[in-house]
Amino acid sequence: MIVGTGVTKTYKQRGGVLGGRDVPALRGVDFAVPKGGAVSFIGESGCGKTTLGRIIAGLETYDSGDIVIDGVSMSGLSHRRRQPYFRRIQLIHQDPYSALNPTRTVHQTLQAPLALRARQTDRSRSWTDERAEELLSLVGLDPGYVLPRYPHQLSGGMRQRVVIARALTMDPEVLVADEAVSMIDVSLRLGILSLLKDLRLRLGVGVLFITHDIATARYIGDDSELYVLYRGQVVERGNTETVIADPVHPYTQSLLSAIPVLHGLERPGPERVVPTEALDEAQADGGCLFARRCPFATERCVSEMPVLGRPGEGGQRHACFHPQRRSVIPVGAGRHAGAGG
Ligand SMILES: Nc1ncnc2c1ncn2[C@@H]1O[C@H](COP(=O)(O)OP(=O)(O)O)[C@@H](O)[C@H]1O
Ligand code: SF4
Ligand SMILES: [Mg+2]
Repeated sequence: MIVGTGVTKTYKQRGGVLGGRDVPALRGVDFAVPKGGAVSFIGESGCGKTTLGRIIAGLETYDSGDIVIDGVSMSGLSHRRRQPYFRRIQLIHQDPYSALNPTRTVHQTLQAPLALRARQTDRSRSWTDERAEELLSLVGLDPGYVLPRYPHQLSGGMRQRVVIARALTMDPEVLVADEAVSMIDVSLRLGILSLLKDLRLRLGVGVLFITHDIATARYIGDDSELYVLYRGQVVERGNTETVIADPVHPYTQSLLSAIPVLHGLERPGPERVVPTEALDEAQADGGCLFARRCPFATERCVSEMPVLGRPGEGGQRHACFHPQRRSVIPVGAGRHAGAGG
């Protein structure tokens, strides 16, 4: 079980036309990834998804809050003592091309971490070859075919499966998949998503799924929990199916809305949600972070910041003063425009 409480991270950006300024990447994010469970974080580019994934995998520091892994607080441990805990969490990058060393065969790629794992678990060296074959079969690859091959000899989908096999060498409790299908050919995406779901069911490995495409979140499992991240704040959280079927936060509704944005022409009505203004990072942060784009903003919204409340009727939680069911025309998987990264 991995629990995050109030995880906060601000980057200092230097130089550039704007000079040095603080970029809040995460603002007090609470989350929990239960053992063998699935959790998705969704939101548009720049909302803090990668930062969160890297923090959870121990690859990035946080300013305040805490990450608790199996009951142990990471904030209280030295860098060295944290490592065995963070090794239980393995990150799968979005780009399987750069994640693999082009000068190493798949066999060589898997050998290094497996040799380490063999030492850690008192196994013989011969176990590593057996385990490499086992893991490749587990991710749906033919070991005889892929083991002697270099990354450039494999398709994008095969490469991502190799990356997943390498992550599994460490017997992780949780896989953090950061946009793991966004750079893969559309026809191969569903295969990778089903693989992640399958690994959950067969190995009991938890999945933290990070995506800008809300529609892909449902492929991770209908028991999964969805977190909607907007500018570093969780604005809606609940069962994935419930949130997708019945979103109450205007931002979630806009992510799910297929109505095109016609700049300057849109008129918000009860049946549609269209963000009215482009993302303005420099906006004063007094009120709701979504207020400048929200068609339903009131005076209260610009002066007071809504926080994630208790679960409502549908079981989901939201950070909005005027939550309301609003019907949206759903977008299909992979077709949501205007987001990336
Ligand atoms: N290393 C970094 N230095 C400075 N700013 C960063 C760094 N990494 C991310 N950021 C900023 O933090 C915010 C969140 O980025 P990121 O976590 O990559 O978002 P996402 O993955 O959702 O696109 C963005 O405004 C981004 O520009
Ligand atoms: S709090 Fe107000 S501005 Fe923010 S999302 Fe809700 S209605 Fe919109
Ligand atoms: Mg990212």
